[in-house]
Amino acid sequence: MISTGGGDCPGLNAVIRGIYKRAKQEPDWEVYGSIEALSGIMRDPPELIKLNRSKVSGIHVRGGTILKTTNKGNPLQYPIKDAEGRITFHDITDKVADRIRELGFDAVVNIGGDGSQKISEALHRHGIPIVGVPKTIDNDLKGTDMTFGFQTAVQIATDSFDKLVTTAESHHRVMIMEVMGRDAGWIALHTAIGGGAEICLIPEIPYDVREVLKRINERYEKGRGFVNIVIAEGAKAKDGTITFSAGEEGSEHVRLGGVAFELSRQLKAVGCKQEIRETVLGHVQRGGTPVAFDRVLASLFGVKAFELVLEGAFGKMVSYQNNSIVSVDLAEATQSYHHVDPKGSLVQGAKGLGISFGD
Ligand code: F6P
Repeated sequence: MISTGGGDCPGLNAVIRGIYKRAKQEPDWEVYGSIEALSGIMRDPPELIKLNRSKVSGIHVRGGTILKTTNKGNPLQYPIKDAEGRITFHDITDKVADRIRELGFDAVVNIGGDGSQKISEALHRHGIPIVGVPKTIDNDLKGTDMTFGFQTAVQIATDSFDKLVTTAESHHRVMIMEVMGRDAGWIALHTAIGGGAEICLIPEIPYDVREVLKRINERYEKGRGFVNIVIAEGAKAKDGTITFSAGEEGSEHVRLGGVAFELSRQLKAVGCKQEIRETVLGHVQRGGTPVAFDRVLASLFGVKAFELVLEGAFGKMVSYQNNSIVSVDLAEATQSYHHVDPKGSLVQGAKGLGISFGD
C-alpha cells in the first residue's frame, strides 16, 4: 500500500509509477494507494484505489499526487475535545497499525517529508513492514543529499527571479522575492546563486536589517540602480523581529507572504530611500510539471522502495547519496533537519559572488 502525506511536491506521481512498474515485474503483487495519506485506510469503508497500468500511465510528468494528500495534523495523534473545549491528543499508533494489518497489506511505502517519515518510524516500531520515501521541495530532510521536487522549485523560483530582474532594472527598484523554506534556506540560496541576487536571507543565517541596507546602498552608490533580494519564508532577523515558527496554530498565512512585506517595512524603518516591491511566489513553487532531474530521482526512488520491500528491508528510507540510490535507517533520517551550513562551501561560494546574507 502506498501513501502520500504532507504538502504535495512535483515528482510524487513518478514515485507511485516507479513502485507500480517495479512491482509488476514480480509475480503476485498488487499495489494499492490510500487516499489522502493514511486517512484513506482509517475511513469506513477504507478509501483505497487499486493501481493498474492505465492509472499510472504517463503520470510521471504530472505534478501533485493522484492519491491526494493532506497535512492536517498527525494521523497517529487523535484530537479529543474536553467539556471546556480544550483539545488533547491521544496516541493511536496502535489503532493505525492494527488497521493496516486488518486490511492485509504485506508492506507500506510512505512517501512524505519529515513529519511523514516520523510516522513511518513510529509505525515501524509498532511492527508495520514500512519503507519511507523522502519528499519535500524544501530539501530539508536528513539522510539524503537531495529530495525530489527541490530542483523543480528552484527552477520555478529562478525563472521568476529572472523576470523580476528586468523590471527592477527598468525602475531602479529594490525587489524582494519570498520563496518557500520554512526551516531551511536551500531554495533561496540556489535561486540567489542561479539568478544572480545581491542579497539572500535564510533561516540559518539571521540577518541585521542595517547590513541589508548597507549592501543596497553600496549598489546604488556604484550607479547600478537596482537590487534583487531573495528571502526564505523562515528567515529570521537577528533581533528576532521575524520569527515565524513552523506549524504554529494558525501561523501559515503569517508565514507565507509575511516575511517579504516585513523586510520591506524594516528597510523603510531604517531609512531605505529606494522604491521597494515585494513578490511572494507561494504555492506556484510546488505546482506543475517536475523538471527532468526530479522525474529521474523520483522514479528511481519508487523502484528502490519496492526493492527494499522485496528484500524485507523495512524501517528504511530510500536516499540519494554520492550519485547513487541507497537506503538509510528511518530512525537516522528523522533525527534532525538538513540545514544549509553557514560556513559551508555553498554559502562561501555565494559570498564569493558578492551575495550578502545580511550578517
Ligand atoms: O513543503 C513544505 C512547504 O513548502 C513549506 O516551505 C511551506 O511552509 C509549506 O510547505 C506550506 O504548506 P501549506 O501547503 O500547508 O501552506
